[in-house]
Amino acid sequence: MRSHFFLGAAAIVFPIPALSYKPPTFTGSPDHAGKYWIHASGISAAFVPYGASISNLLLKDKNGILRDVVTGFDNATYYHIDKQHNHFGGVPGRYANRIKNSTFTLDNTAYHIRPNDNPTPDHPDGVDTLHGGPDGWDYRDFAVVSHTNSSITFSIVDPDGKEGFPGEVVSYITYSVSDDLTWDAKMVAIATTKKTPIMLTSHTYWNLDGFANNETNTVMNHTLYLPFSGQTVGVDSILIPTGDILPAPKGTVNDFWSAPKKIGDGFEQDGIEGNCGEGCVGYDNCWLVNRQKPYDWRSADKMVASLHSPWSGIQLDIWSDQEAFQFYSCNFQNGSMALKETQGLHDDAKFPRTIPKYGCVVLEVQDYIDGINHPEWGRMDKQVFEPAGDPYVLQVRHKFSVVP
Ligand SMILES: *[C@@H]1O[C@H](CO)[C@@H](O)[C@H](O)[C@H]1NC(C)=O
Ligand SMILES: *[C@@H]1O[C@H](CO)[C@@H](O)[C@H](O)[C@H]1NC(C)=O
Ligand SMILES: *[C@@H]1O[C@H](CO)[C@@H](O)[C@H](O)[C@H]1NC(C)=O
Ligand SMILES: *[C@@H]1O[C@H](CO)[C@@H](O)[C@H](O)[C@H]1NC(C)=O
Ligand SMILES: *[C@@H]1O[C@H](CO)[C@@H](O)[C@H](O)[C@H]1NC(C)=O
Ligand SMILES: *[C@@H]1O[C@H](CO)[C@@H](O)[C@H](O)[C@H]1NC(C)=O
Repeated sequence: MRSHFFLGAAAIVFPIPALSYKPPTFTGSPDHAGKYWIHASGISAAFVPYGASISNLLLKDKNGILRDVVTGFDNATYYHIDKQHNHFGGVPGRYANRIKNSTFTLDNTAYHIRPNDNPTPDHPDGVDTLHGGPDGWDYRDFAVVSHTNSSITFSIVDPDGKEGFPGEVVSYITYSVSDDLTWDAKMVAIATTKKTPIMLTSHTYWNLDGFANNETNTVMNHTLYLPFSGQTVGVDSILIPTGDILPAPKGTVNDFWSAPKKIGDGFEQDGIEGNCGEGCVGYDNCWLVNRQKPYDWRSADKMVASLHSPWSGIQLDIWSDQEAFQFYSCNFQNGSMALKETQGLHDDAKFPRTIPKYGCVVLEVQDYIDGINHPEWGRMDKQVFEPAGDPYVLQVRHKFSVVP
C-alpha cells in the first residue's frame, strides 16, 4: 500500500499505509494530532508543547524517499500518557543532565532538589537528579507564543522553589527551519528573581535512516565525528562526574576526534564495557568541545559534531555556542517503545516496529555536566544566573546534507 505525503508543493510517494496525520501544510494551528508544523524547502518539522519537543523531522534520503529521522510519538496526547519518559526531543530544564546528590551550594546556602535517578533501597526516589527533577521542564506543557510557516516559539515560566530550585526562571525556545536544510534552535532563559543554576539542551534522538534500513535497525553503521572533543568528563559507576577531566587518546574507545568513526567500531574497542556506567555497554558520556578562543561558533571550521549514515546518505552536521557535548547510544532502549507511523519498514516483517537497543543516538549540546558542583572547572559564569547578570543563551544549528 502506498499513500501520498505532501512536503511543500511536491507530492511524495511514501511506501507506507495511511499516515496518522494530515499533510503538514501551514494553517497557523496544530494539526489533528496536536502537532505544530514548520517548513522550508526540503525540510519539515513538527513540535508539541509537551517539553517544547520536536516530534518529527522529515527530509529526503539519497533515493528521494522522505525519512523521519527523530524519535517521538504519533500525537501530542501520547506525550502525557507515555510512562517510560525517555525525554524524546524535549528541552530538559532547568538544569539538564545529572546533579550529584541532588545538592548544590550557592553563596554558602545548600539547596536540596528533588532526586529522580538511581534509586536505592535507602533512597527510593534516587540519589541524584536527572534533567531537572521528576517534574522537570520536559514533563510540562510549554506555551506556544508564536508560530509561522518556518518557525515556532515556546515559553515556560518555572516558579520559585519548583523541584527545589531557587527563584523563578522564564524561558523562550525558538525553532526554525531554512531552505539550506537547517534546523536551528535558540534557547534563552532569565533568572527573574534569584540566583539559580540554568543549563538546557535539546534532547533529540536520531536515527538517520528513519528506522527503515532493511539491513540493520541499529545505528552501529552510523559514523560520528567530534573534531574538538579530545577530552571527556570522568564519571563514577552511576555517571556522576568525579571532577576528573580525562583524555580520549587517539585510537581508544572515546576517540571520535581523530577521524570520523563508525559507532559500531567503538563497540569493538577496549573499555566499551562499563563506559556508560557500571554494567552498561555503550556511550552515555560528556565530551568537552575545545575550540581555541576567541572563535565564531558559526564558522565552517568550528563544527562540533557530525553524524552520517551511508544507507540513507543523510548527514547531520552540528554547530553550537556550547562547550560540551553528550552522546548517548540508546543503551537503555529494549524494544518496548513503538516506532511512529512515519518510521520503519511497513512492507517487511524483518524488524519489529519498535526501537531496539542501540537503535538511536542522542546528541546534546550543553555545558560541562554538573559544573555547579565543580567550581574548579570555572563554569559558574555559564551555569549560574541572576536578575542583574547575563541571560542564559544556547544556540544550535543542525545542518543536513545528502551524500550520494
Ligand atoms: C510554507 O513553506 C513551504 C516550504 O518553503 C512552502 O512550500 C509553502 O508554500 C509555505 N506555505 C505557506 C502557507 O506559506
Ligand atoms: C497516539 O500515539 C500513540 C503513540 O505514538 C499511539 O499508540 C496511539 O495509537 C495514537 N493515538 C491515536 C488516536 O492516533
Ligand atoms: C547529600 O544530600 C543530603 C540530603 O539532601 C545532605 O544531607 C547531605 O549533606 C548531602 N551530602 C553531600 C556530600 O553533599
Ligand atoms: C534495501 O534497501 C535498499 C535501499 O532502499 C534497496 O536498494 C535494496 O533493494 C533493499 N534490499 C532489500 C533486501 O530489500
Ligand atoms: C554500512 O556502511 C557501509 C559503508 O561504510 C555500507 O557500504 C553498508 O551498506 C552499510 N551497511 C548498512 C547495514 O547500513
Ligand atoms: C524495557 O524497558 C522498560 C522501561 O525501562 C521497562 O518498563 C520494561 O520492563 C523493559 N522490558 C524488558 C523486556 O526488559
